[in-house]
Amino acid sequence: MKKDKHKAVETAQFLKSYIKKSPKIGLITGTGLGASTEFLDISVSFEYEDIPNFPTPTVESHYGRLLFGDIYGEQIMAMQGRFHLYEGYSPLEVTFPIRVMQELGIKVLILSNAAGGLNPKFTAGDIMIIVDHINLTGSNPLIGPNEESWGVRFPDMIEAYDKKLAELAETAGTDEDIPLQKGVYVGLKGPSLETRAEVRFLRTIGVDAVGFSTIQEVIAAVHAGIKVLGLSTITNINDPDNPMQTTVDEVIAVANEAVPRLEAIIKNVIGKICYGKKQ
Ligand code: HPA
Repeated sequence: MKKDKHKAVETAQFLKSYIKKSPKIGLITGTGLGASTEFLDISVSFEYEDIPNFPTPTVESHYGRLLFGDIYGEQIMAMQGRFHLYEGYSPLEVTFPIRVMQELGIKVLILSNAAGGLNPKFTAGDIMIIVDHINLTGSNPLIGPNEESWGVRFPDMIEAYDKKLAELAETAGTDEDIPLQKGVYVGLKGPSLETRAEVRFLRTIGVDAVGFSTIQEVIAAVHAGIKVLGLSTITNINDPDNPMQTTVDEVIAVANEAVPRLEAIIKNVIGKICYGKKQ
């Protein structure tokens, strides 16, 4: 852990030398959703491979770019593309950017992902506010000695997804006339998609959407005291009684189509956070 702390501090210092003010809000975009950061007035951007200690993504549908940009007078740190367990990264590598955010002083993290819908009321293209998660990845980024300067040994997860941020997102949906769903996200390791029996199981345990990301990042963020808003774009519906094959092209196409709506929600929520602070 010490080594990771040292690396995160080093990376944060590297980034600080390029930015004028410290970002308070972080954004991580999911599969096919990288363009949802277009509302930012970019001041500096980095390819992940040019950032000291940063892992480099292997997934084509993710950009691998870190941006700093302004909106409403606030500096935002936005990651276009993330790291997944199924790529072979360790939970510590997957959550390294969260530790860099922590070292930079980020207080709010907005995460998006592409997910399969399990709730029969959902349709492809829906955006779901994540209200809670179930970790079925079999991994946890806090395994190993606890880095006390990052957080406590046993972080409480009773409100992993901040209620107030979820409410802001709900209001943003009303403001922007974009219908939003709410539900529970389950994280699996992937990369193979779910069998019909797994889909039945996940529905039985109360899951609304399934994906291969987000969980490790949220656990690290909660440990770091960073408030989290999670948004899933439902790219396909998993119905065990009417099984349909899912392809990555389809996931990306539906995610791309949802980008303007996701972007409007994120921008609106950031506006509410920024103006709320000034009141
Ligand atoms: N399963 C897991 N991850 C996904 C899916 C799915 O059906 N769709 C998009 N990401």
